[in-house]
Amino acid sequence: MKNTYNLRSIAAKAITQVLERGQSLSTVIPELQQKVSGKDKALLQELCFGVMRVLPQLEWFISQLMTKPLKGKQRIFHYLIMVGIYQLIYTRIPAHAALAETVNGAINLKQPQLKGLINGVLRQFQRQQQELVERANSHISQYLHPKWLLERIQKTYPQNWQTIVDANNQKPPMWLRVNQLHHTTNEYFALLENANIEAELDTDHPSAIRLLSPCPVSYLPGFEQGWVTIQDRSAQGCAELLSPCNGESILDLCAAPGGKTTHILEIAPKSKVLAIDIDEQRIKRVKENLQRLNLHAVVKTGDGRLPHEWATGKQFDRILLDAPCSATGVIRRHPDIKWLRHNEDIDQLVTLQSEILDAVWPYLKKNGTLVYATCSILPQENSEQIQSFLECHADAKLSETKIQEKSGTQIIPEAAGGDGFFYARLTKQ
Ligand SMILES: C[S@@+](CC[C@H](N)C(=O)[O-])C[C@H]1O[C@@H](n2cnc3c(N)ncnc32)[C@H](O)[C@@H]1O
Repeated sequence: MKNTYNLRSIAAKAITQVLERGQSLSTVIPELQQKVSGKDKALLQELCFGVMRVLPQLEWFISQLMTKPLKGKQRIFHYLIMVGIYQLIYTRIPAHAALAETVNGAINLKQPQLKGLINGVLRQFQRQQQELVERANSHISQYLHPKWLLERIQKTYPQNWQTIVDANNQKPPMWLRVNQLHHTTNEYFALLENANIEAELDTDHPSAIRLLSPCPVSYLPGFEQGWVTIQDRSAQGCAELLSPCNGESILDLCAAPGGKTTHILEIAPKSKVLAIDIDEQRIKRVKENLQRLNLHAVVKTGDGRLPHEWATGKQFDRILLDAPCSATGVIRRHPDIKWLRHNEDIDQLVTLQSEILDAVWPYLKKNGTLVYATCSILPQENSEQIQSFLECHADAKLSETKIQEKSGTQIIPEAAGGDGFFYARLTKQ
């Protein structure tokens, strides 16, 4: 049966929602994916994420091919053309199919009169592809990052900024976290081998396995039964550092979608976990994840700055604060971050993080442990945040970790390695 939708026009819609309305791909895509068939779900993802990865390059091509940019209600066709060019350069879709499907997108978007224009631009690109690609290299920055972010990364990491930028521009590796309540990591590794899924064990994180090439979760043995979770190795470090124990009361603050809530419970299934997040929609995902893994926590919507509203005066043995942040450590997984974030956002995030930290600290028991984590690589949100917290809280002490730096552990994203992350473990004196 022939599809009634046009995938390229759906991709153009998603990209418009991100670049014109400031929504994130992770919000927009799941909704749009419901309209498409199984194998098209992955292609939709590839087209949207791919365009975000190389956006400045695609913008430059269009500027060379069209004298008048498409604006207003026609802006979506600008993004449809981008989807067309992206396919010609970066996918194995035969050019004639990429072209025909993209041009037909104009019919689904109810402007069939634009078919000629789109066809013309894409054919012109095809004719000049080699020359344009060569010229692009000398006209636009090969780093494909916004200027403000590239400058911040270069200033902070004068030695290894290029490693970070290269990792950000690559497709992310797929990491698994083996649920130790079902199998040891080695046992699950053997199950992957039996399923002909090539993988590698990790030396630093006991439950982590990296797949040599990503695959749909339905291929993973026992995914539905909760034997395994998709989680980057760096993210796995948070619950490991928290070291939860059975019987303890634990607060997982900023918990959605629950990747770390479930990890805490896999390590200490008899701990009493309260998971809080401000976002009602995302909180639903915490519940779904707990259900898949058959784990139990109290899950509530709440603002981390106002613990008196949800903590009912109770103190916790351990707190994990996975703070809202710039997400500059996970750009390879969310390349739209490069275009959604702005330089001015960083100060606001730093303020929000310190407000949450200050508000929640009194809710930690004496001798208790708080792990502060972000998926950011910017020191303002990380080591500087912790430094100023320590200066204002005499009862807080930074406890040692494996790769201790001045005020916590900063991990940078690396191609086959983990995402960019920061953790600091504080204890209350
Ligand atoms: C990095 S994500 C958390 C990821 C999660 N810990 C996990 O492992 O799956 C940050 C979360 O902070 C939440 N958030 C933002 N501001 C908040 C606030 N004031 N109070 C509580 N949660 C907040 C966001 O909704 C988002 O889900």
